[in-house]
Amino acid sequence: MRKPFIVANWKMHKTVDESVKFVKAIRDQLPDPEEVEVGIAAQAFSLYPMAAAVGKSGLQIIAQNAAAEYSGPYTGEISLRGLHDLGSRYAMLGHIERRRLFGENNAAVSQKVKAALQIGVTPIICTDETMVQKEVNGEIHYVFQQLMSVLHGVSLDQIRRVVISYEPSWAVGVGQHANATLAEEGCRMIRRTIADNYTYEIADKIRILYGGSVNPDNIKEIMAKPDIDGALIGRASLDVDNFLKMVNYAKNEEAQLAKQAPSKKK
Ligand code: PGA
Repeated sequence: MRKPFIVANWKMHKTVDESVKFVKAIRDQLPDPEEVEVGIAAQAFSLYPMAAAVGKSGLQIIAQNAAAEYSGPYTGEISLRGLHDLGSRYAMLGHIERRRLFGENNAAVSQKVKAALQIGVTPIICTDETMVQKEVNGEIHYVFQQLMSVLHGVSLDQIRRVVISYEPSWAVGVGQHANATLAEEGCRMIRRTIADNYTYEIADKIRILYGGSVNPDNIKEIMAKPDIDGALIGRASLDVDNFLKMVNYAKNEEAQLAKQAPSKKK
């Protein structure tokens, strides 16, 4: 059973004060962490004060990027050693904006992924739709070349600790409606790629999130898809009410069913 994981990606938004206020506003209204995991990927300078404010909520405070080196002369970079020390269990790596705007390539993301795994921080590996078809024994197999290149050198043991986020470029930050069917298709293909390159058992357990124009109106439909285990949410996650609606998507559904139940019985 894969536990759903809903992650806010705040990108370069919110001051420390705004970030901490947000955490305080949501921390008592989050779903049971045993049932749904919730995280916020915030700017590096806000991670510590946010982590101090999570209380017993189980909210994960996540870095949006990290360097492959643990320490040294790397001005402006974010150290995984520091993140680990802070208690950050996850780091988002290889986001499409890092690739597009800051020239991160597969080799660089791969180094970061391995450094994260080695120090005990779980990478949330972002990947887009770059996919090729190849024929093996008369069967068509889909291969996410970008993802497989990032996973190069990641062992059977390590892959179990990875979270993957599928973020097709047509859907990220463009205000377009997320297409749940295409989102599911991409996540299913990624799972199949993991099965082909690792094992079925691992593919069945690995969590695959979808990112790109998720909002309170479409999250239920997206989360109902069998191969989508969570969402990485940009714009819609910046508002407290919207975020609470999205992380409580399952609860909202129960509440709605409960509301409908009396009239159904009549
Ligand atoms: P969006 O961003 O929800 O604003 O499309 C998603 C992301 O960049 O992770």
